[in-house]
Amino acid sequence: MSVTVVIGTQWGDEGKGKAIDFLARDADFVARYNGGNNAGHTVVNPIGTFKIHLVPSGIFYPHTRCLMGSGMVMDPAVLIEELKTLREAGIRFEKRLFISPRAHVIMPYHKILDGLYEEAKGAGATGTTRRGIGPCFADKISYNGIRWSDFGDQTLFNQKLRVQLELKNKIIAALGGASLNFNKVCAQYQEYYGVLKPYIAEIFPIVQGGLRARKQFLLEQAMGSLLDPDWGTYPFVTASSPLASAVTGGLGIPPRQITQIVGVAKAYTTRVGGGPMPTELAGDSDAGRALQEVAATTGRIRRGGWFDAEVARFAAELNGADALFLTKLDVLSQFDQIQICTGYQWKGKRAHYYDLNAYQLGEVKPVYRTLRGWQTDITGIRKFSKLPEPARQYVETIEKLVGVPVRWISVGPEREATIVR
Ligand code: GDP
Ligand code: IMO
Ligand code: MG
Repeated sequence: MSVTVVIGTQWGDEGKGKAIDFLARDADFVARYNGGNNAGHTVVNPIGTFKIHLVPSGIFYPHTRCLMGSGMVMDPAVLIEELKTLREAGIRFEKRLFISPRAHVIMPYHKILDGLYEEAKGAGATGTTRRGIGPCFADKISYNGIRWSDFGDQTLFNQKLRVQLELKNKIIAALGGASLNFNKVCAQYQEYYGVLKPYIAEIFPIVQGGLRARKQFLLEQAMGSLLDPDWGTYPFVTASSPLASAVTGGLGIPPRQITQIVGVAKAYTTRVGGGPMPTELAGDSDAGRALQEVAATTGRIRRGGWFDAEVARFAAELNGADALFLTKLDVLSQFDQIQICTGYQWKGKRAHYYDLNAYQLGEVKPVYRTLRGWQTDITGIRKFSKLPEPARQYVETIEKLVGVPVRWISVGPEREATIVR
């Protein structure tokens, strides 16, 4: 039996989708336990290229059972669209995709409020995906949420929706938004429920049965560890805990059942949305431009910068990572010199990530170590020993600085572009 949690060690988009698609070959169960369709996990495999927001990225292997846990929130329209895309690609998920009835549903007012709150905060905005994630989790925590299990009882559902619309329409109106109509929302959401109902089932007995049968579990984090509401750069964080520890609340897996924690780390750093990123390079510099990316969910620009070992070490310690899955090493092939941030100086003194709040973190000076680049194409390499010597040195420096061995190295977006050490 194994329960492997795959977590991002940075600010998201580390390549978790790629790692899960690679690792799921040996998994019986692949499960999401946090977040919602703010996630965008890219999978490139023989079936095609997919940007997945909600369904576990292990869905492409017909032998996996895929679980969407109680810790998730989901926009039904996005989920239905995603299932359609997957079905069109030939993926069958009958009897192998299970949605927890405890998962909360993103309602139209969550999306409206997400936007209105962001606008009210102006320059201090979090830079959310505006998918309604924060307001949906806020309703969950303040006992105002609507869960899949509420949809089965039309009277209960109507009652809950009526109360929520009464409350939310007042706030929306006060903030200058257009109010929502009960009949319209009710009809639309019951229709969504009709489509998704075949997949909604309590997953507790499935999980427990799998644990008893000593099956292989692969648990897929969404977001990154530095977006955790407690340990991330608050308020530039996401609403649900992405940490490995969240698998109990989000999936019903007891903490002591976890056998391995894999930290996915991009070979450099990116961040999308607001908040500090100490190693960020100016977007108009050559290196900054080279490390920028386009976000999978919102199409916004991800800011780019050098690898921040302070942040990755913190995330690895916080989660208890056993091994690293290093992604996008190939992207660094273009540089003759590569920098790694080994730590920070703040107000002239050495400071750790955890010493500083988000605003202070925005003021640190990264301490860099310069390494030699390799400037050759490594995308076809499948053996560590065949990597150019400076690339091996780069990997070894990362594992020394982070304090965790690098077990997998990804040298391209495709499933097979992976070196196992
Ligand atoms: P996730 O949210 O952690 O799953 O990451 P995203 O999918 O949002 O972003 C990672 C991006 O990097 C996607 O476009 C992937 O296809 C791509 N990717 C992943 N691994 C590699 C790699 O090793 N090399 C290259 N060039 N691209 C990669
Ligand atoms: P994956 O799973 C990168 C960021 C948003 C914003 C903050 C809060 O693809 O790695 P939210 O909409 O969650 O309330 O936004 O969190 N964010 C992500 N950044 N990758 C993600 O997911 C993210 N999910 C949320 O950009 O800064
Ligand atoms: Mg992503």
